[in-house]
Amino acid sequence: MTEDVLVVHGGTPLQGQIRVRGAKNLVSKAMVAALLGESPSRLFDVPRIRDVEVVSGLLELHGVKVSAGAEDGELVMDPTNVESASTDEINVHAGSSRIPILLCGPLLHRLGHAFIPDLGGCHIGPRPIDFHIGALREFGAVVDKTPEGMHLSAPNGLHGAKLELPYPSVGATEQVLLTAVRAEGVTELRNAAIEPEIIDLICILQKMGAIIKVHTDRVIEIHGVPRLYGYEHKPIPDRIEAASWAAAALATRGEIEVLGARQQDMMTFLNVYRSIGGELKITDDRVARAGVSGSEGGIKFWHPGGELKAVALETDVHPGFMTDWQQPLVVALTQARGISIMHETVYEQRLGYTEALNSMGATIQVYRDCLGGTPCRFGRRNFMHSAVIAGPSKLHAADLRIPDLRAGFAHLIAALAAEGTSRVYGVNLIKRGYEDFEAKLAALGAHVERL
Ligand code: EPU
Repeated sequence: MTEDVLVVHGGTPLQGQIRVRGAKNLVSKAMVAALLGESPSRLFDVPRIRDVEVVSGLLELHGVKVSAGAEDGELVMDPTNVESASTDEINVHAGSSRIPILLCGPLLHRLGHAFIPDLGGCHIGPRPIDFHIGALREFGAVVDKTPEGMHLSAPNGLHGAKLELPYPSVGATEQVLLTAVRAEGVTELRNAAIEPEIIDLICILQKMGAIIKVHTDRVIEIHGVPRLYGYEHKPIPDRIEAASWAAAALATRGEIEVLGARQQDMMTFLNVYRSIGGELKITDDRVARAGVSGSEGGIKFWHPGGELKAVALETDVHPGFMTDWQQPLVVALTQARGISIMHETVYEQRLGYTEALNSMGATIQVYRDCLGGTPCRFGRRNFMHSAVIAGPSKLHAADLRIPDLRAGFAHLIAALAAEGTSRVYGVNLIKRGYEDFEAKLAALGAHVERL
């Protein structure tokens, strides 16, 4: 266990430049999409994170050749010879990620059958897959859940369907897109997720030959086509990672320029950042502007000195405030004067990490009620999904155990902001979504070391 502990000497403002690459929550799906093509795909700016390894492994098991391209971060996927894999081989990836569920449609199209291992991912609520299975059955798939995993077949092929999601789930929308593009006929999806990563996936599928119309009011229409081809794509930058570093700048009273971050994907976050009292400068069009070359743009975030202001917020689907921005920002809110409210409406159990912040001197109380905004689907049920944060609180060092990816990064920020030396256990979990985070911490002047 010792290698999985980071010793953090806190209290130093983080200062400097780091770079974010392609979004974790797009790249892994783009890799799955490559399976649908009849020729090789090239994906650029791919970060070295665990989900990419898992999906590479699953693709390779199914006969896709995955190799590094000429550019740093370029991934080449050749699906010319897709083949079946044994359940034992696939089960090596059981519990490793949530992405395997998205292989259903592509494998059914390519092979006529699919086996999906038990899913992994962060423990932030029950995370059911009922929307996925319901949609797949509407497409004509036969789904058989067994103790070893999920077997799917499509004895009569897959055909378009009229679907409406009970909630605009990101994963279920991706499931529908990845299945409908090659299903026979037209699919209409109502109440779809429209996160920027979804739109980027639609762009990729369009490059592959798909016909997808995004209408107003969360309606997506997909006209199935008989074949798709490889794509070349530079993914949307990781707006969750960018916001995490922005929160770290605020919590440690520092200044971080996040190269590669893009304004248009983060507008809701940027508004909140300003409302709290954080400063930012957007230079994401620097490369495109005439006369300025050699320096990549991004967004610079900093604490301007003085006190931060409390806010009332709720997480929501796009274009709302992302649930994955919530945990790092709450650490910054412990430093704001007054009472802040964070109402989590996407996942029912995503506030457990606040206990550790309280052990470091924060004053955060969690409630079952929907506080500060509109009632959500978790209201009056037994979920502690609203947090009240009283600040400012002086944070002190503590020993912390990382519960999940985003909460883990929040713990790390808290340790960096706190006076004294903290030990953060289970820190390797952060590698699931933050490429080279230790090198980035070093570049920002953080005093951290492996035990
Ligand atoms: N839901 C259902 N049934 C389903 C699917 C979803 O009830 O069949 C519920 C979930 O339980 C949750 C809500 O719908 O309460 C939203 O879940 P969604 O399907 O949108 O989430 P996801 O696709 O599993 C992705 C990201 C998450 C991110 C959410 C919301 C990936 C790999 N994961 O998850 O990212 O929080 O969308 O934007 O894309 C992370 O990066 O740390 C992370 C958890």
